Amino acid sequence: MKVAILGLGARGMMHSKIARSAGHTIEAVCDVQKERLVIAQNQLGVKKENCFLKADDFFAAGKLADIIVISTLDETHYDYTLRALTLGYDILLEKPIALKQNEIEEIAETAKRLNRKIGVCHVLRYTPFYQKIKELIDSGVIGKVMNINQTENVGYYHYAHSFVRGNWHNSEETCPMILAKCCHDLDLILWLTGKHCVKLSSFGSLDYFTSANQPNGAADRCKDCKARDNCVFNAYQIYTDRPTWVKQPDGEDYTVENAIKQLDKNENFYGKCVFRTDNNVVDHQMVNLVLEDNVLAHLTMQAFSGEVYRRTQVCGTLGEINGVMEENRITLHLFGKEPQTFEIECDDGLSQHSGGDKLLFLDFLDCVEKDDKECKAEIDCAVESHLLAFAAEKSRLQNGETIVLRKEK
Ligand SMILES: NC(=O)c1ccc[n+]([C@@H]2O[C@H](COP(=O)([O-])OP(=O)(O)OC[C@H]3O[C@@H](n4cnc5c(N)ncnc54)[C@H](O)[C@@H]3O)[C@@H](O)[C@H]2O)c1
Repeated sequence: MKVAILGLGARGMMHSKIARSAGHTIEAVCDVQKERLVIAQNQLGVKKENCFLKADDFFAAGKLADIIVISTLDETHYDYTLRALTLGYDILLEKPIALKQNEIEEIAETAKRLNRKIGVCHVLRYTPFYQKIKELIDSGVIGKVMNINQTENVGYYHYAHSFVRGNWHNSEETCPMILAKCCHDLDLILWLTGKHCVKLSSFGSLDYFTSANQPNGAADRCKDCKARDNCVFNAYQIYTDRPTWVKQPDGEDYTVENAIKQLDKNENFYGKCVFRTDNNVVDHQMVNLVLEDNVLAHLTMQAFSGEVYRRTQVCGTLGEINGVMEENRITLHLFGKEPQTFEIECDDGLSQHSGGDKLLFLDFLDCVEKDDKECKAEIDCAVESHLLAFAAEKSRLQNGETIVLRKEK
């Protein structure tokens, strides 16, 4: 199949490599950075005339491929998805679908009206880890599912990068953290149980990454900070360990030396003190959900963990399932029996999410090829998780008020 990529950043590049590894062709690329287009030509074999710097030119060229991957940043998804649908593309769309509830609903309705497929990159459904948990639940071994506890540990350094200094630090500019980070988790809760959500409530706040907690002697930028050697959020330490996380101008390599050069610039937001930015998204939040048949679910999302990991516990009437996705190990404890451990194999060498990205991509392409096959990440299923995120944010802002989503039977 011929694939067009809109946004050849981290995700776009990964999708491109997966597509090529499965024998598909990257036919066209659009990215606002010239350097990315050079990469498209040199590494992905895209013809120069099919590389576009402006989305307007890309869309004006008509439908150039069988499918399009939309992997630009969140705020462009709504506009680009509607334009791609109008041109007749089936779309693999990065999450979140869009930033507002009405935009998400409009995209889903438009896809239905135009009879086009949209797969949303809810890649966790495809990970061998969550596939195994789903298989165990569906087999009935743990009886009726009563509770799910899901914890999204964002990791102190990852949180500081993305949600204090970086792209998702301010909900006015992008979206609430519970949508940006946890539409995956909400989607998992719905998919694993096979239930809809009846009502939910949520609490959470931004408490730690505020000026009140700035250490004595600290400055607005790590460059000028006397306290930085004792600060775990010291940008010079975080990005020396992860130089590829600091954006570079066209043509510059992602080296430690270049990362430091960027941090030294007063306008660079990755060099800011984490206690002195214009961030407003929560640093810890919980959501309590009542699903159909009185299944209860709880989601905690928080910044304060040493590593980035998701922990899942599913409790049934006959046993419980526990696991941490990044460890790829699941424990099944049937009551009165010895716990059983499953080691999950998943290293495909390309995916960023425990093997989920590649399986999702290939499943979506298969569904486009075979018209009657349903993709597990079809937009209709994904929409509900996004609506739950908006409801959770509404509840949080109303001091935990219960939001009713559908009538209890
Ligand atoms: N499915 C997941 O689990 C998952 C994980 C990470 C990110 N994401 C989502 O994927 C998307 C991309 O994230 P990323 O980490 O690859 O970001 P990125 O910054 O690495 O890549 C975005 C690319 O889009 C390009 N771009 C920006 N504006 C553009 C425009 N108007 N037209 C064309 N190109 C444009 C940028 O130059 C960049 O190359 C985001 O929506 C993000 O939320 C999803």
